[in-house]
Parts: sequence; C-alpha cells; structure tokens
Amino acid sequence: MRTILIAMAVAGAFAGGVVQAQDPLKGKCLGCHDMEKKKVGPSFKDAAAKNKGNKDAAGALVAKMKDGKGHPKVAGSDAELKAAADAALSAK
Ligand code: HEC
Repeated sequence: MRTILIAMAVAGAFAGGVVQAQDPLKGKCLGCHDMEKKKVGPSFKDAAAKNKGNKDAAGALVAKMKDGKGHPKVAGSDAELKAAADAALSAK
C-alpha cells in the first residue's frame, strides 16, 4: 500500500511537470490569445500560418514582447518567451 502511494505521488509530480513544460503559453499568452479564435490578438493558428517558413519569426516576436513595440509587452525570461513564441508559431 505504502509503495503504491509513493508510486502515485511520483507519477503525479511527473505528470504535472510535463504539463507545464508542454504549455508555456498558459498564463502568459492565453489571456489575449486563443489557439483557434481571434481574441485580443490573432489566433495562434492564423499567426502560425502567416509566419510559416519564417525561421526568424519567433525570435523577432520575443524582441517585440520585450520592447513592447509591435506587440504588447509580456514579462518573462528570454527562454520562457522563446518557448511560448515557438509553441504559438507551431500551432496547427
Ligand atoms: C495584453 C495582450 C497580449 C498578451 C498577454 C500576448 N499577446 Fe500576442 N498579440 C496581442 C496583440 C494585440 C497582437 C496583434 C499585434 C499587432 O498585430 O499589432 C498580438 C500578436 C501576436 C502574434 C502574431 C504576430 C504576427 O506576426 O502576426 C503572436 C504569434 C503572438 N501575439 C504571440 C504571443 C505569445 C507567444 C504571447 C505570450 C508569451 C502573447 N502573444 C501574449 C496581444 C497579446
């Protein structure tokens, strides 16, 4: 019984970590964006389609989010913003 409880706790912690790593958009971006629909900003599907083939799109977007020019300013580390931009621009 004890072993099972520990195994469940470990599995739960692991699953939680994976969810967080897979969803860098949550919290920072999804207040203004939706994957499918236009909200305050364009849907990530549209943005991904528009920037398809542009390898610099995510980097350029991170720069805009840091400056607050061309995109509302978003707080976060470079790595967080880059992960979010990559995820947004690979939306399908
Ligand atoms: C305060 C609201 C707000 C937040 C928060 C926000 N965005 Fe945006 N976003 C916008 C608006 C408004 C635009 C349209 C800007 C324009 O075209 O002038 C936009 C545009 C975009 C685009 C389209 C760029 C293009 O080239 O067409 C992408 C991709 C994007 N945002 C990603 C993100 C990501 C990733 C995050 C989280 C790190 C984020 N946004 C957070 C409001 C927001």
